[in-house]
Order: sequence, then C-alpha cells, then structure tokens
Amino acid sequence: MPLIIANLKCNPSTLREARRLFISLKKGLGNIRKAQVVVCPPFLYIPELIKIFGRAGKIKFGAQDCFWEKEGAFTGEVSPLSLKSIGVSFVILGHSERRINFAESDEMINKKLKAALSVGLLPILCVGETKKERREGRTFQVLKKELRVGLKGVSAKNASKIILAYEPIWAIGSGKPCELNEIIVEVLSIRKIIAALYRKKVAREVKVVYGGSIDAENISKYSTDSNLQGFLIGGASLNSREFMKIVGTIVKKNSDFNF
Ligand code: 13P
Repeated sequence: MPLIIANLKCNPSTLREARRLFISLKKGLGNIRKAQVVVCPPFLYIPELIKIFGRAGKIKFGAQDCFWEKEGAFTGEVSPLSLKSIGVSFVILGHSERRINFAESDEMINKKLKAALSVGLLPILCVGETKKERREGRTFQVLKKELRVGLKGVSAKNASKIILAYEPIWAIGSGKPCELNEIIVEVLSIRKIIAALYRKKVAREVKVVYGGSIDAENISKYSTDSNLQGFLIGGASLNSREFMKIVGTIVKKNSDFNF
C-alpha cells in the first residue's frame, strides 16, 4: 500500500476551517483501504481530527514536530508521550521549514527522533538539499550528514521502521517538483547511505517518500516507480478535493506498492 502523508503545516488558521476540511476528507477517504493516509495538522487540531475520523478508522494521525523530553519545565514544547497518549502514531521531524526558521540542528532532530521512537511514535525524517547545494554537486554529502547524525544511536530494528522523506528544499512550495528520474537517483543515494550506516536489509526495508510541489495535476507522472513508497503533500493537502484526487491517482497506479 502506498503511504500518503498530508502535512498541513500552519494551516488552516481557524478551527472552523480545519473542521470543514476534516469532515470533507472523512467523507472521501474515511474508508480507504488501498493506501495508508496520514494527516498531520497543527497540534491544536489533532483532537478534532481524531474525533472526526475516529481512532479505529483507516486514517492515521501525525504531528509536525515533537520535543525530545517526555515532560518537564520546557515552556511551549509538546511531549512525544502526550502525542502518543491522544492517539497520534506518526511525527514529522527535521522538516526544512523547522531547520531553516527555527535553527533545528541534526543533533536536535536526532534527540527528537529517539524520544519519538521511545514512546512508539513512527518518525518521518525529512532530508534534502538546497538549490545551491545541488548546483555545487553536494546533494549526496548533505543527505549523508542529515542521515548519519539524524539516526545516530538508532538501532537497525528501529531504523527500518522509520519513514524517510526526500524533500529537496528548492522543490517545496515552488510549484516545480523534482523530476522522477532525479528523485530516484536521490532515493537510491538514501538507500546506499542507510546500507552503509546499517546493512543492506535495512536499506531495502526502510520506506522512502517524496515531498515537494506534488499536486493533483502532476501526481500521475510520479506514481509509477516502485523505489518510492509514497508522498508527503503540503499545499495540495489543504484542498480536500485536490488531496483526494492525488490519493485516487496514486491508488490507481500503485496497487503493488507495499507499506
Ligand atoms: P508542498 O507540497 O507545498 O511543496 O510542501 C511539501 C512539504 O514540505 C511537505 O512536507
């Protein structure tokens, strides 16, 4: 089954709009069997999302970040254990918007990733290069550092459970997604790096998804390669019809994906 993750980012700005989006998604995707859909809204809307979809349904719930401690005097932070306790199963970590806007380092991301795993949350670790790094031919080095430090101290067993998201920073929100053949090159690089850090079996088992300007129009070009286990959708997940169209296209073209 393909894995399709909606990252709503800091949207929508009111609970009323969030509720409308969730109800519409529930109507279209509530019983979906041929894809694993994960919806990652802002923290505050997670309880509403869970209320609308129900904990026992097909859709899984994700957060867009978490802290590295389970509790304590950390004003403004969100504990991975709190997330787990309300019914969240996935957590996006190391998104480039957090790395860039909030100065998250690979070391911080590594602490968050280990804390998430320790409470049974499945991390979605985002990696990817800037335009400049790509132009300078440094993509492999960037991916290697983000994976080596991000996964430091993570066992092979846990590493094979993690979802890796290849999100080239230049493609995010640009309307210009990375070409499929280039994505595949980087996905193979990611698997090569994982094989070197662990072993080939982990590199084969780890799920890799792509994110960056995927929409209902271009998805058909992207959903045919078995090297990719799915997609991380940003802007296009804010429109329920568009997101459902993306899911429908992926499902139609990828019944052999295995998640
Ligand atoms: P867009 O789909 O809006 O380019 O965002 C991708 C992304 O950052 C998902 O995490």
